[in-house]
Amino acid sequence: MNQKLHVSYVSAEISPFAKSGESADVASSLPKYLAHLGMEVSVFMPKYRRPEIESLPLECVMKELLVPVGEEKVKGSVYKAELGKCDVYFIDSPRHFWREDVYGTGKGEYLDNDERFVFFNRAVLEYLLEVKMPVDIIHCNNWPTALIPVFLKTHYLNKGLFKNTASVFTLHNVAYQGEFPPESLALTGLNWNYFTPSQLSFNGQFNFLKAGVIFSDVLNTVSSAYKREIQTEKNGWGVEEILRNRKNIFYSIRNGVDYEVWNSEKDPYIIANYSASNLKGKKKCKRDLLQEFGLSASPRTPLLSFISYLSSQKGLDILLEAMEELIQLRVRLVVLGKGDEKYENMLDAVQKKYPRKMGVKFDLSPGLTHKVAAGADICLIPSLYEPCGLTQLYSFRYGTVPVARATGGLRETVKPFSLKTQKGTGFVFKEYSSQAFLKAVKMALSCYAEPELWEKIMLAGMQEDFSWQISARKYAKLYHSALAIKRGG
Ligand code: GLC
Repeated sequence: MNQKLHVSYVSAEISPFAKSGESADVASSLPKYLAHLGMEVSVFMPKYRRPEIESLPLECVMKELLVPVGEEKVKGSVYKAELGKCDVYFIDSPRHFWREDVYGTGKGEYLDNDERFVFFNRAVLEYLLEVKMPVDIIHCNNWPTALIPVFLKTHYLNKGLFKNTASVFTLHNVAYQGEFPPESLALTGLNWNYFTPSQLSFNGQFNFLKAGVIFSDVLNTVSSAYKREIQTEKNGWGVEEILRNRKNIFYSIRNGVDYEVWNSEKDPYIIANYSASNLKGKKKCKRDLLQEFGLSASPRTPLLSFISYLSSQKGLDILLEAMEELIQLRVRLVVLGKGDEKYENMLDAVQKKYPRKMGVKFDLSPGLTHKVAAGADICLIPSLYEPCGLTQLYSFRYGTVPVARATGGLRETVKPFSLKTQKGTGFVFKEYSSQAFLKAVKMALSCYAEPELWEKIMLAGMQEDFSWQISARKYAKLYHSALAIKRGG
């Protein structure tokens, strides 16, 4: 473990530069904690046309990088920003990335995502090769980076630089697989011999995620419960068998929290800081949040929150179904989200109907997200499935108690409160139905009505420790296993 590892962490999204889901938070925090462990970490993402990237002090480190895409050599450039202990490299290609969104808009995915991410994957490898950057581990995340392990074992197999480079592929959500028609294979420059069910083809399509699963040296996901779930037919989104076949190299490491960013004691986004030993500031945060959403309520009225990307995964269907009844309970509700237009419209309609009880903002900027995390009493996480989930982990630190569905990482991190033992950190329900969800909310509200009891539950959550330090060490171990596999150990 003493040898200094060189890690290239590759992601299509990194907070705060571009974010469509929680994997962006992982990409902005895990590399930092790996660097704290003494690793040399470089991070790669596309250079989207976003103010968060354009306002950075960027250094152009390669003006012209020629990237093979199909028969063409496509010109790209590479920019670098130094962020604390890590360098972040932005791969630029206006034709592919000068767009505001990562994968598409609320109306649908971009039609050239195959080309965009083939380009990105090869550009990362070409750049490393060009500048001869030492690299022990290339850590890929989700389908948009899944072809790197494929390229390492094909086009780049005989390149000296990568002789001892192992690939690690993290699955943050197997529902998104990057499925394209067979013709997309042409973009990769690989021949049709690779398009077999044991390699790149899957149900007749070119499936990026599956390709990454087959070709990576080591595979992991973000909670052990989710790892189990996705190996079953019911929850495997069709890739269960492929995952089961890779079980010898398939691990799980739960995501951590960056407590330098998510911390009620020093959060700059909230109106008052507070801690487990002095909760006064939380009341001010609640008042501030109500005001932010144009709501008013007595301090004892429970304030519920829902913060999420608006997709069916996050339980929007049962939340919306439960909405009328939820609002009839004596509560206020704030919703922060962005995503599927269908859900935005439905939430908007509820808000218009109950303007004094519910507030909604289609905005997931850090300022508001932190305000909601701190100001609410209860956060609702009725996910259909949840590989890890970060909202509940953030909420704990702010004394905001989750009502969550027992699935994936939620099941693993929210300890169901029991009246008998008076122990637990949240309220949990199993069945994916609005009735089961409402029952758990009602149980939470009845505990909320007893301030002393409620404080006990808040404090139990605030004392939980989900820091990255622990998980980053597990990644260090995983990297060493990957190297041992790659180097035939
Ligand atoms: C995806 C998953 C979420 C997980 C995140 C980071 O967004 O849906 O559960 O926390 O990735 O791994």
